[in-house]
Amino acid sequence: MSVTDDLATVRYARMRWNTPLAEAHGALLVERFAVPDGAHVLDLGCGWGELLLRAVDAGGAHTTGTGVDTDGPSVDRARTLAKERGLDARVTFARQGAATWQDPADRVMCVGAAQGFGGTVAALDGLTRLVRPGGRLLFGEAFWERPTTIEATELLGEEITPLPELVERVRARGWRVLHLSTADQREWDDFESTALAGRQEWLLHHPDGARATEVRCELDARLREYVCVYRGLLGMAYLVLARADR
Ligand SMILES: C[S@@+](CC[C@H](N)C(=O)[O-])C[C@H]1O[C@@H](n2cnc3c(N)ncnc32)[C@H](O)[C@@H]1O
Repeated sequence: MSVTDDLATVRYARMRWNTPLAEAHGALLVERFAVPDGAHVLDLGCGWGELLLRAVDAGGAHTTGTGVDTDGPSVDRARTLAKERGLDARVTFARQGAATWQDPADRVMCVGAAQGFGGTVAALDGLTRLVRPGGRLLFGEAFWERPTTIEATELLGEEITPLPELVERVRARGWRVLHLSTADQREWDDFESTALAGRQEWLLHHPDGARATEVRCELDARLREYVCVYRGLLGMAYLVLARADR
């Protein structure tokens, strides 16, 4: 295995999923998503599909799923996880851009992956078209917990809004908000720590390796950005949305 492959494999190794979300909070979202047996669940920007696999499993023996993501190592990991859990006959993964997906589903999820559509507004428009009548959407999206700063806006983009505006964007597309919760500080700290942990461990084992300086700088920069720029400022909301059955 080359150093590049090795780093790609360890990068997300310590993360349960790629979003600030504790186990119990994830279980609550799956419960509120209420996947019926026999439903089809679509996850756009699925990462390695952990939430999708749990949602399909919760739905029952006739529930199926599709995960879509552009990241090759994540899709490979998703297929391995599906196989390990005996779900590979019911859950498939496509390495593809989220915005190009056309087939609607009964349950659609998009968690932390609005960038796959080009941003929040484009994602909400695209996702709204993909949910079958009577279906539900689980939308996980960033928001500002308090008034933003120039540094945070430069780093994280212009499109993030305070929570009331995010909720308004959702409601304006005809969605009823069945559930709303946000990541707490411990979920964020755990997310940021586990996002770095795979490479931190790699660095401890390869302190003098050819890519050690680059990896060390990358990790230090991300930690600095988190504690100096967006810790306590960037929020993450999880919304379970439903529309009338017509
Ligand atoms: C923050 S991660 C969230 C992953 C997953 N939803 C989860 O909660 O674990 C964002 C994901 O979006 C994927 N992504 C980025 N651009 C994409 C695109 N154009 N189409 C599909 N997926 C994309 C990334 O590869 C990454 O897996």
